Amino acid sequence: MIAEKTAKDNGAGTVSRKGTLSRLVLLGPPGAGKGTQAVWLSDAIQAVHISTGDLVREAIAADTPMGRQVKTFSDRGELVPDKLIVDLVMPYLIASEKWILDGFPRDVAQAKILEAALAEHDHHLDMVIALKIDDQLLIDRLANRRMSHATHKIYNLMFDPPPASDPGPFEQRVDDHPEEIRRRLQVYHDKTEPLLAFYSSSGLLRLIDAGGPIEVVHAKITATLAGQ
Ligand code: AP5
Repeated sequence: MIAEKTAKDNGAGTVSRKGTLSRLVLLGPPGAGKGTQAVWLSDAIQAVHISTGDLVREAIAADTPMGRQVKTFSDRGELVPDKLIVDLVMPYLIASEKWILDGFPRDVAQAKILEAALAEHDHHLDMVIALKIDDQLLIDRLANRRMSHATHKIYNLMFDPPPASDPGPFEQRVDDHPEEIRRRLQVYHDKTEPLLAFYSSSGLLRLIDAGGPIEVVHAKITATLAGQ
């Protein structure tokens, strides 16, 4: 998401760093917690959170010509074609000096597009944080994810239930049903996972075990950023 969501009270602002981290990529399978961690981290390091999944859903909700094009792919759990996703995300990448990318790049072709766009502005990525987790846990997380219509916060009926103070209603994503979840996991393994080797070879990759509770994952990311 871009601006309107706020971090929950979960330790934001506690990250200390040796150097300045301006451009981070969060990688991980569906349900790994990219969005959850990015909302917290963007507050902690004062960076803009750019989620291509949220951009896709916003375009669909606005029923723009772009929204109608991306909907057919997104609803089925398939990747939106590069040209469309690049048109959606590039304005935000260019507009901000400091960001966390959540959901982009999604394959090696997109990683090369990102690299070229950054080079054009004499910029580079500082770090790629990859969240690692077993598929079975992902299925439980995705099937139980709900978003509050009132506050846009993301909850989980099993792991992070909404508080009484959030009036809801709580909605389930159209791609969080069993068939679409299976397809998204397959797409991740086929297309996105090769990015781990791509970024490992450039020395940017940091692997984080994301199977524990949300606060434990926060702490691991904090330690990783502090160690750089
Ligand atoms: P996108 O929205 O990016 O979906 P995704 O990658 O499948 O990731 P999710 O949003 O499902 O999961 P997440 O890792 O953010 O997990 P979250 O923090 O919510 O993309 C959607 C679609 O858009 C794609 O399928 C594609 O069609 C299109 N698209 C987007 N980018 C694209 C691109 N670059 N190219 C082409 N197409 C693109 O957490 C999940 C749940 O678990 C929540 O309920 C949360 O509360 C809970 N949870 C989180 N962390 C923990 C924890 N540590 N313990 C317990 N529960 C937890």
